[in-house]
Amino acid sequence: MELTYSDYLHLDELLALQRPRSDPPEHDETLFIIVHQAYELWFKLLLHELDKIKDDFFAGRLYPAISTFKRARTIMKVVVEQVDIVETLTPMSFASFRDRLDRASGFQSSQFRELEFVLGYQRPDMLRYQRPGTPAYERLERRLAEPSVLDAFHAFLKLHGVPTGPDETIEDGVLRLYKTQPNLEILFELMTDFDEGLQEWRYRHIKLVERSIGSKRGTGGSLGVEFLKKSLFHPVFPDLWAIRHRL
Ligand code: HEM
Repeated sequence: MELTYSDYLHLDELLALQRPRSDPPEHDETLFIIVHQAYELWFKLLLHELDKIKDDFFAGRLYPAISTFKRARTIMKVVVEQVDIVETLTPMSFASFRDRLDRASGFQSSQFRELEFVLGYQRPDMLRYQRPGTPAYERLERRLAEPSVLDAFHAFLKLHGVPTGPDETIEDGVLRLYKTQPNLEILFELMTDFDEGLQEWRYRHIKLVERSIGSKRGTGGSLGVEFLKKSLFHPVFPDLWAIRHRL
């Protein structure tokens, strides 16, 4: 039989996966489920692209790293914009099915945690919120043990004559490259876009949480907004931010 669009994408399976828990179904729960599922798909693609970037960095491949970072920061922009859709959900509408989430929360998104880990933002205590023994848990443990994108970036800088060492040494090296190598400047700017995009997502998510549940605790059991604020301005590529006043 000829392959169809639906076969190729496994649409029958994909479209059977949106199952509201509210009974009778609350109209807006469908949006809530689809948006989260869409996020998980984007996270999956980001992980795929970041793994490639790691390989590119270790192998010293500049232009492939540039084009993949361009893609990654563009995905990040779409991911930030998707918050607009969730914000069409009013606090009362969200409250109508929130208790059906039980203790489920984005807090437990293993792919989001994996993204943080692969980038180099590693808070091992976050493993506490994952179920041990699951494939997701094992993936996270593996991510903690293997080099991050930040490590790969440092290896890449080393290939360009930047010695690994104290932060200041790396910063001086990045500054020199910024000023003397326009092709590397393009890469650094795209990495900064990506980093800013992740911080933008954190900000938009916090505002989304504030307007949806105010100061309530999260379904995941954290303090909610107070917890989220801790990583709000956390850069994943600190060297690129530290030198900007010297450019
Ligand atoms: C009405 C909408 C939403 C509310 C009220 C909400 C609420 C929260 C709260 C309170 C937390 C803190 C952890 C906890 O105690 O639960 C959290 C974490 C998180 N949420 Fe949401 N969220 C919403 C939408 C989303 C969406 C659309 C995503 C997309 C994937 C998402 C992903 C995450 C992630 C990844 C975390 C962990 C963040 C971190 O550890 O820094 N959330 N959310």
